[in-house]
Amino acid sequence: MTVIKLTTSILVLALAAMTQFANASADDIAKRIAPVGSVCVAGTECAAAAGAATASSGPRSGSDVYGTYCAACHGTGAMGAPKSGDTGAWKSRLDKGFNAVLANAVKGINLMPAKGTCGDCSEKEISNAIKHMTK
Ligand code: HEC
Repeated sequence: MTVIKLTTSILVLALAAMTQFANASADDIAKRIAPVGSVCVAGTECAAAAGAATASSGPRSGSDVYGTYCAACHGTGAMGAPKSGDTGAWKSRLDKGFNAVLANAVKGINLMPAKGTCGDCSEKEISNAIKHMTK
């Protein structure tokens, strides 16, 4: 008896599986067998989208961050900020080591606000901006 019951349920399961297959539309099947990745060729729409995504997720360049956040003070020397490109003014600061200067810029020092007001800047982006100002 048990053997017959088991065979029947296997048969029912098999039938159910087959009906599922029969009901699947061509679209469903295409989705299921679609490759995991696809190749984007330069010049096509998908390649442009991929390029834009990369540009916005990478660290901003030193000149971008400087121009947006640091130039207000470091471009003019406001509040005694060492001016961009003034190697003399930067030398004495850099003498204590780039990492020490970077740490001060990140946490702020005297009238220099933390991260130079760029709250969402990563340490790498602050570092890029400092390199831009001190070269
Ligand atoms: C509101 C004005 C202001 C802005 C905006 C500003 N700074 Fe400054 N920064 C200063 C001042 C003032 C100092 C000098 C602080 C001191 O040593 O007393 C300074 C000093 C520094 C120093 C030297 C730290 C040291 O150890 O001597 C670095 C590096 C620096 N700023 C980086 C930046 C960066 C990067 C940005 C932009 C992301 C920025 N600052 C934006 C005012 C500013």
